[in-house]
Amino acid sequence: MIKRINSEVYHLLHPKMTFFLTSISRKGVPNVMTCAWATPVSDEPPIVVVCVSRDSHTSALIRQTREFVINIPVKRQLEALWICGRTSGRDVDKFKEAGLRYHPGRMVRAPIIEGCIGYIECRVLRCVVAGECNAFFGEVVTAYADTRFFKRGSWVDTAEIPFHLAGRKMVYFRG
Ligand SMILES: Cc1cc2nc3c(=O)[nH]c(=O)nc-3n(C[C@H](O)[C@H](O)[C@H](O)COP(=O)(O)O)c2cc1C
Repeated sequence: MIKRINSEVYHLLHPKMTFFLTSISRKGVPNVMTCAWATPVSDEPPIVVVCVSRDSHTSALIRQTREFVINIPVKRQLEALWICGRTSGRDVDKFKEAGLRYHPGRMVRAPIIEGCIGYIECRVLRCVVAGECNAFFGEVVTAYADTRFFKRGSWVDTAEIPFHLAGRKMVYFRG
């Protein structure tokens, strides 16, 4: 039976790869949030879009400094993903709360998170308001990955990358 879906239509498009989205304030204070709504939109030049709630602290920071980093996590960082997806950097230092260590990015000031297996550093080209979200189009300024898990242009099955299904449910890439 095919049934009409009335709410949370976006769940039809999940599971979605889920990552740590990092940003930084003008004064140099970093933040991290969990994000699943992202996609490449151009390969030449490389451009990605991240969709971020307009109420979030992350949106405010990306609008301030016009940069962000997509940090691709692994299964053992699951608890940190939930923490960074439930609390706001306005209220708490989520790096401390989630036990995440970070360094400055290679080409942007927004931080990269230790223990992730891929990083995409971006500068914002434009921001489009889309409902409750800001869709930030980011030009990729550099991207790098752990070669134990990314070989010959794709993730290998041992990477165990989290994908958000719905609610508290995650599934993992197994190749
Ligand atoms: C699995 C998961 C995926 C999420 N994906 C998104 C997303 O794509 N966009 C978004 O705006 N919020 C998303 N969130 C919610 C934010 O992470 C959450 O609102 C966070 O508290 C914002 O933090 P901030 O105020 O420090 O920016 C997600 C949360 C979880 C748990």
